[in-house]
Amino acid sequence: MQSGRPTSAILLVGGFGTRLQPLTFSTPKPMLPVAGIPFTEHQIAKARAAGITEIVLATSYLAEVFAPHFGDGERFGIKISYAVEKSALGTGGAIANAAGLLRGTGPIVIFNGDVLSSHELQAQMDLHRSGGADVTLHLTSVPDARAFGVVEMDGSRILSFNEKMENPPTKIINAGCYIFNRSVIDSIPRDRAVSVEREVFPALLAGGSKILGYLDSSYWLDIGTPAALLQATSDLISGRAQSIAFTELLHQDLYTRISGSLVALDAQIEPSAIIQDGSLIASKVRIENGATIVGSVIGQSARIGPGARLIHTFVAPHCEIPGGFIAENQFFGYLEEK
Ligand code: GTP
Repeated sequence: MQSGRPTSAILLVGGFGTRLQPLTFSTPKPMLPVAGIPFTEHQIAKARAAGITEIVLATSYLAEVFAPHFGDGERFGIKISYAVEKSALGTGGAIANAAGLLRGTGPIVIFNGDVLSSHELQAQMDLHRSGGADVTLHLTSVPDARAFGVVEMDGSRILSFNEKMENPPTKIINAGCYIFNRSVIDSIPRDRAVSVEREVFPALLAGGSKILGYLDSSYWLDIGTPAALLQATSDLISGRAQSIAFTELLHQDLYTRISGSLVALDAQIEPSAIIQDGSLIASKVRIENGATIVGSVIGQSARIGPGARLIHTFVAPHCEIPGGFIAENQFFGYLEEK
C-alpha cells in the first residue's frame, strides 16, 4: 500500500427505499437492476478500481438478499463481508456497526448505496491524505439544492452543514461518498440509530475536526426515485454516465443496443415494435408487433402484447401486459406491501 490510500470500504445498503416503492417491497434499492445489473455491482467495481480490496455491506432491510448474490466477493475480485442490523441503525450507526468487521487502522471509504457517480475516488483519497483530514466528503453542485443538505466552504474546508431549506446558502451538496479516519468512526455512538448527515458531521465540526470537501463536476445521480432509476439506466447506455461493471457486462455479449436502448440478445422483438430512450429489455422478454417501449425497464421473461405502449414504466419479470394497453410512469407485476 505504497500510496497510503484506503483499501477498506463500507457500502450502506440497509435503507428502506420508500421513494422507490413498490419496487423495493421485494428487492432492496441497491439490488434493483440499473443497466442490466444490480446497482451495487456498479459501486463494487468502482471501489475495486480505486484499490479497495475489502468491503463490508451494511445491511438491514431485506438483509438476506445480499449474501446469496455476492458471496465472499471472489466473483467480483474483492473480499466481501456482511454486517446485519437487527433494526435499522441509520447511516451513522450502520457505519459504526460495519467497521467492527474491518481489521486495520487506516481510513475507510463509505459509499451511500444509491449514488451513481463518475468522480475520481483516488483523487478524493489523495486530498484526504495530503490535507490531513479527519473526514473527506465528495461534494457536487446542483442547480436546485432545496431537496438536499448543503455545505458552506472555505477553500476545501467545510465550515457548516445545513439541513434542507427553502433558501439554501450554497448549491454544494453532500454527494454520498466519504473517507473517515478510524478515530472518527470510533466516536460514533453504538447500538442506537444515528444519522451521519444530521448528527455525526455537525458534531465533528463542533468538536474542531478537520472536514474537507472534494468538489468536482463529474456525472452524479441519486438513483432513489423511479425517474432517477430510469435515468441512470438511460445515462449508462448512452455513455453519459460511466461504470466499469457496465463495460464488463457489454463484453459478455448478452445485449445489443437498439435506438439508445439495451436489448438482451435472447429477447424476441417483433420487427414493427419500437424500443427507445434508454429502455432495458431483459433476457427472454417477448415484445409483440406494434408495441412501443419508451424509457422503460422490462423484466426477464415478461411479455408485452401487440400495440401496447409503455412510457417510463417498470414491468416485473414474468409479467404479461395485454395488447393495446397504454401506461406512463407505472409499475406492473411488483409485490404489494407485505
Ligand atoms: P428512502 O426511504 O427512499 O429515502 O431511501 P433510503 O432508505 O435508502 O434512505 P436514504 O436515501 O437516505 O439512504 C442513503 C443510503 O444509506 C442508502 O444507500 C441506504 O441504503 C442507506 N441507509 C439508510 N439508512 C440505513 C440504515 O439504517 N442502515 C443501513 N445499513 N443503511 C442505511
